[in-house]
Amino acid sequence: MGKLIIASGNRGKVQEFEHYLQELGLELFPKPDHIEVEETGTTFIENARLKASQTALAAHHWALADDSGLAVDALNGAPGVYSARYGTTDRERIDRLLSELGHRSSAAKFVCAIAVANPQGTIVAEAVGECTGEIIHTPRGDRGFGYDPIFYVPAYGLTFGEMPAELKGRISHRAHALAELLPKLHHLNWS
Ligand code: IMP
Repeated sequence: MGKLIIASGNRGKVQEFEHYLQELGLELFPKPDHIEVEETGTTFIENARLKASQTALAAHHWALADDSGLAVDALNGAPGVYSARYGTTDRERIDRLLSELGHRSSAAKFVCAIAVANPQGTIVAEAVGECTGEIIHTPRGDRGFGYDPIFYVPAYGLTFGEMPAELKGRISHRAHALAELLPKLHHLNWS
């Protein structure tokens, strides 16, 4: 059975990936703690490639990595690749974004880039998924994580924070990226 490292420290994300990847019949395991990769890229896909290829090289195994975040139109795409680094808690990150936005309303999108590297560190598959919505000024809902309570999806009349996990799991940026990636992974020889 082929082995694949899920190079993410976020337990929620690892569980989401495990769910989607089970059809590949691979043995999935988490990134060893001693492997640390700095996110020095300026785009989501650059960071995903960096994390996948450096983890694969260090561990001598196949590795999958993702990078994701929120891009707000009125803030010229911020916080973007800095989404996780915009504050130390979710509340701080949301407060900073809303104060930078002021009274403006804005469209926004969540973006998720995923890359898979072989044990030699070469990227063999990648995909980018997006989910568009709007920023609301009063957070709504206590589900999910991160910026979910201020990300409103007009087609459903709900924020990500109000959505059942099953619905978010179908329409999210990560779901779209994985839907594009999975067919590419079926063609790989995982030995
Ligand atoms: P990453 O772990 O480096 O990909 O950072 C992603 C950051 O973007 C997280 O810390 C969140 O702040 C934000 N983010 C990414 N995906 C989501 C999501 O589905 N909901 C809310 N926030 C998200």
